[in-house]
Amino acid sequence: MRAIIAFVSFFIFLNSYAVTQPLDYRVYEGEAKKIVNRMTLEEKVGQMTLPSIDFIYHDGGLKVIRTAHLGGVIAEGNTVPKGGPSLQNWKEWIQEIKRHAEIPLLIGTDAIHGDQHVANSVIFPQNIGLGATHDPALVEKIAAWTAYDIKRSGFNWVFAPTVAAAQDIRWGRTYESFGADSSLVAQFSAAYVHGAQQIENNKIQGVLTSTKHFIGDGNTDFGVDEGNVTVHDQDVFIRTNLPGFLGAFSESTGNVMISYSSINGLPMSLQKEYLTKYLFPYFSGFVVSDYGAIDKSAKKLKKPYNIVLANSVNSGIDMIMITSTYPFFKTINGFQHILLKDVKSGLISKARIDEAVTRILQVKLAMGLMSQKFSTDAKPEGDEYVIALKAAEESLIILKNRDKNNQSTLPVDSDNITNIVMLAPAKVRNGEYAFNDIGLQSGGWRIYWQGLLGNRYTDSKASSILTGIKKVANKNANYYFNPNKLTSLIQRHTLSRKNTIAVVVLAEPPYSEFMGDVGNNNPLYDASKNRAVSESQRKNLIMNFDAETLSRIKVLRENGIHVVTIVLSGRPMQINQGINAPYKLSDCVIAAWLPGTMGGQAIANAMFGLYRFGERSKANTLSFNWPI
Ligand code: BGC
Repeated sequence: MRAIIAFVSFFIFLNSYAVTQPLDYRVYEGEAKKIVNRMTLEEKVGQMTLPSIDFIYHDGGLKVIRTAHLGGVIAEGNTVPKGGPSLQNWKEWIQEIKRHAEIPLLIGTDAIHGDQHVANSVIFPQNIGLGATHDPALVEKIAAWTAYDIKRSGFNWVFAPTVAAAQDIRWGRTYESFGADSSLVAQFSAAYVHGAQQIENNKIQGVLTSTKHFIGDGNTDFGVDEGNVTVHDQDVFIRTNLPGFLGAFSESTGNVMISYSSINGLPMSLQKEYLTKYLFPYFSGFVVSDYGAIDKSAKKLKKPYNIVLANSVNSGIDMIMITSTYPFFKTINGFQHILLKDVKSGLISKARIDEAVTRILQVKLAMGLMSQKFSTDAKPEGDEYVIALKAAEESLIILKNRDKNNQSTLPVDSDNITNIVMLAPAKVRNGEYAFNDIGLQSGGWRIYWQGLLGNRYTDSKASSILTGIKKVANKNANYYFNPNKLTSLIQRHTLSRKNTIAVVVLAEPPYSEFMGDVGNNNPLYDASKNRAVSESQRKNLIMNFDAETLSRIKVLRENGIHVVTIVLSGRPMQINQGINAPYKLSDCVIAAWLPGTMGGQAIANAMFGLYRFGERSKANTLSFNWPI
């Protein structure tokens, strides 16, 4: 009861919405315990083991699923089926994986902005863009479509939502955050979990959600990914970081992932106090560690792996995500051997193991995995592309729309504008120019951990900024791509203020996790893995025009031709610093975040007045401060 009162008062403090939890997983406790009682210790340890599919192959192949009695598997950042990431290949592969299990597997994917591991999937805007829509109902629909899509591929567990209220935009995961305001995050997290899990009559009909990363991942000192949070005042820390979780608890998220980060020097995996005080009173699902997190904690603390593992399990971690990339164990069996030894030596009690497995099985029962199937194959309402387009449109922020004479550029008049100059700095890596790169506008976690540049594995309905503009601009428009003869084109009156618009696209290269940290010297950053971001770019968030683009823009603007700058980024950027500053040197600036598959069309619609800003009062509003 006290817990309920505390929970309710948190929501009153948040000035928020309904609190009743649709499902208490303990309704399955009796059934789960019956199964646990029939299991051997090895089988129980198996349920607690979560390797990646890559680890399974590294360890001799699929038969280990049965011999190690695995509870689940995950597709890690760079997992791709043999023959490529097509839907068919994924389906067949996961079917085969499933066939090897005794107790049906949880199969997890980081579908953080759609079914991103699978080629041609619809990619929705990253969370930072969704935050700017201020539209939780839309996010609920996105979550429902994501659940439908990942189920079609074979997965049943989504490692989302991230509910960090990011406090420092240097953090490489800022784009995974809906906003800096925790009460806003709470509304989105509730909406996401509701849409993805689709609980009815104590049954998960959608997919299991993993709400992450508990707790404080977006509040580390200097925004260092996996770093430390110096907590002086626990109340302030909790008010900033717990609401996102409370939103997810109010919709009965079945799983919580523990953060890599630390609080006052102690990694979250070992923070029994925080889990006991702020997680377990509100949550009856099971707890999973992050990928290799126990290994990382042992390394950070310079303590033996078996001790850190025991302390983590005793703190409340029920399932351990393991990788083959650390020296503590080489095989899945090697890991299980350490866990079993911890039990046999009494470092972990048998009762704690039973509790962990009961928690996992309760959720599997709620998913209908164990016997009958609860999950629905029905398509969610609406058209997925229309929803993705609306989300991308509502996420756009107009940072500026005034030229030197106080005239606005938008909406562009498609009757009279018959020349369109497209500008972008040189391509990065294997990509396209930024105005024609759907991979770039999708960001990290698409096909690969660090994203994939270019238009490979994008659907025929997807639109780059260029294809979007071509669809809505004057049908007879001429296009000029990074043209060299601007002065003569203007002198010949081919291009003029009345008939021409220039569009410049500036973009951050795709990144994920610590690879996206900027200006905080994160020691985890590995330059060899990211050829797009130079060391100098990693020092600050300044975004400038390159020399060639700048000289073109000067010519255009000297002749009164309007320049629209589109910024594709995972966080607010400093765009008004120095003599090449895009903010100063553009007539219009649009922040488009990482808008995904329909991003190009959304930008074009907004530019040409097919989408009208301000139609829904709260849409197109920042959920982070933009330091201009
Ligand atoms: C990330 C998690 C992710 C997990 C599995 C980790 O590196 O921190 O957010 O869910 O990998 O891919």
